[in-house]
Amino acid sequence: MSTTEQTYIMVKPDGVQRGLVGEIIARFEKRGFKLVALKMFTPSKELLEKHYADLKEKSFFPRLVAYMLSGPVVGMVWEGLDAVKTGRAMLGATNPLASAPGTIRGDYALQVGMNVCHGSDAVETAQHEIGLWFGGEVNQYKLSRQEWIYE
Ligand code: TYD
Repeated sequence: MSTTEQTYIMVKPDGVQRGLVGEIIARFEKRGFKLVALKMFTPSKELLEKHYADLKEKSFFPRLVAYMLSGPVVGMVWEGLDAVKTGRAMLGATNPLASAPGTIRGDYALQVGMNVCHGSDAVETAQHEIGLWFGGEVNQYKLSRQEWIYE
């Protein structure tokens, strides 16, 4: 398991409001990923501006921040083989209309500004985001079912 990675996955306010938290957690659990951190909270504007720093100049940025401030989110860290890329694949394309059916956004969303979930886009981004949202602190524990997931 040399390429085990951690990724930051977040259920956005619309996902929480629509009761999709359990569904999203279940998909990652059933796929075989290991949950190593989880919390629900309403993020501060400062934290969101850091999280989305690369989008600061975009016209949709103010709306994005307002949406993300509109209610609690559920932040999680999932660990496993190729977790970053596979996590993104499970979420689907940024624009839900372009997301394949079977993905979270492809099954539960229609518009980019209400796309239900976030997932880190690269290993370095994931480490940065885990630092931002969890102070880098994740749980270390043995999961016995891993013996039935990894060959
Ligand atoms: P981005 O980092 O490009 O996508 P992803 O979330 O898939 O990594 O954009 C961050 C969020 O910004 C995106 O999930 C939804 C929002 N957004 C808009 O509201 N309008 C847009 O045109 C784009 C590209 C993103």
